[in-house]
Amino acid sequence: MELVRATEAAAIRAVPFIGRGDKNAADKAAVDAMRKFLGTVNFDGVVVIGEGEKDKAPMLFNGEHVGNGRGPSCDIAVDPIDGTSLTAAGRPNALSMIAVSDRGSMLDASSVFYMDKIVCGAEGIGVVDIRKPIGENIRALAKAKGKDVGDIVVAVLDRPRHERLVADIREAGAGTRLLLDGDVAGGINAARYETRIDLCVGTGGSPEGVATACAIKALGGFIQGRLAPRDDVERENGLAAGLKFDHVYEADELVRSENTFFVATGVTDGGLVEGVRKLGPIIRTESIVLRSRSGTIRRVIADHLAEKWI
Ligand code: FBP
Repeated sequence: MELVRATEAAAIRAVPFIGRGDKNAADKAAVDAMRKFLGTVNFDGVVVIGEGEKDKAPMLFNGEHVGNGRGPSCDIAVDPIDGTSLTAAGRPNALSMIAVSDRGSMLDASSVFYMDKIVCGAEGIGVVDIRKPIGENIRALAKAKGKDVGDIVVAVLDRPRHERLVADIREAGAGTRLLLDGDVAGGINAARYETRIDLCVGTGGSPEGVATACAIKALGGFIQGRLAPRDDVERENGLAAGLKFDHVYEADELVRSENTFFVATGVTDGGLVEGVRKLGPIIRTESIVLRSRSGTIRRVIADHLAEKWI
C-alpha cells in the first residue's frame, strides 16, 4: 500500500504538464516525484524495468536500487507515466504505475523494445493462444464467455503495424477499441470482468508486457508475450541477455513469482482510473492496487491537501 504514495506523487506532479505539449517535461516531473517517494518505502528494490540505461536516464535507471533497503528484496518495474504523449496532448488514459515482485523474478526484456501480446480474463486460460489466428481466438473466447462474437471487443494500439490485425478482428465479426497509447491499461481492462473490453492484442513495449503480467497475475487473468525484435542488433542483444525468440512467454515466465503487486494512479481520466482532480483546497487521486497473493483489487481514492504540494 505504501507504493501507492509514489504513483500518486508522480501523477500529481505531472498535472501542470497536461496538455502543454512537452512530454519530456511531464515525464521528468513524474520520475523525480516517484523516485523521491520510493526512497521512503520499506523494501530493497532493484529497478528491472525503468527509464533505460544509467547513462541516458539519471533516475530510475535499470539496475538502480530503490527503497530504504530495509524490507523485502524485490524486483521493480516503473513507468512514471504510461502515456507521456497522451499527457502532453491532454488526452485520456495516461497513468503512473509500479509493479513489484520477488527479487530475480521479472523477465528483463529491456534489450528488445517490442513484444507481441495477448491478454484477457480467466476465461481465456487454455482457450486463447497467441500462436493461433486472431479470428480463432476471438471465436474461442466468445464461446468460453458465453457471448456472441459480435459482442466481443478487442483493444489494439492504433498503429500502422496493426492494420492487418485490425482488419482480421473486424472480419471475424468482433469490434475494436483502438488505443492511442497505453497498452498496460488496455491489457488490465481486458482481464477485468466489469469492462467492455474482452481481449487486448498487438505489439507494444516489452517492459509494459512484463508490468502487465504482474497485474494479470493478481487479476487471475491470461497473458502471453512473444518478443518482436526490430532488427538484428536487438536480436543479438536479446540473445546475449538470455532472451528467447520465437518463444511464447507465459505469465509465469514473464514474472516467475506468485507474489506480485501492481499499483497505478490516473494522470488523466481513463477507463481504469480517473485522473488527478483539483477540488478547492484538495487534490484528489484515484489509484488501483492489485496484489496477487491475496487476489485483492483495491481502489484508493485519496484527498491531498493542495497547499502541501506547492
Ligand atoms: P510511454 O508513454 O511510456 O512512452 O508508453 C506509451 C505506450 O503506448 C505503451 O503503453 C506501449 O506499450 C508503447 O507505448 C507502444 O510503443 P509505440 O508508441 O512505439 O507503438
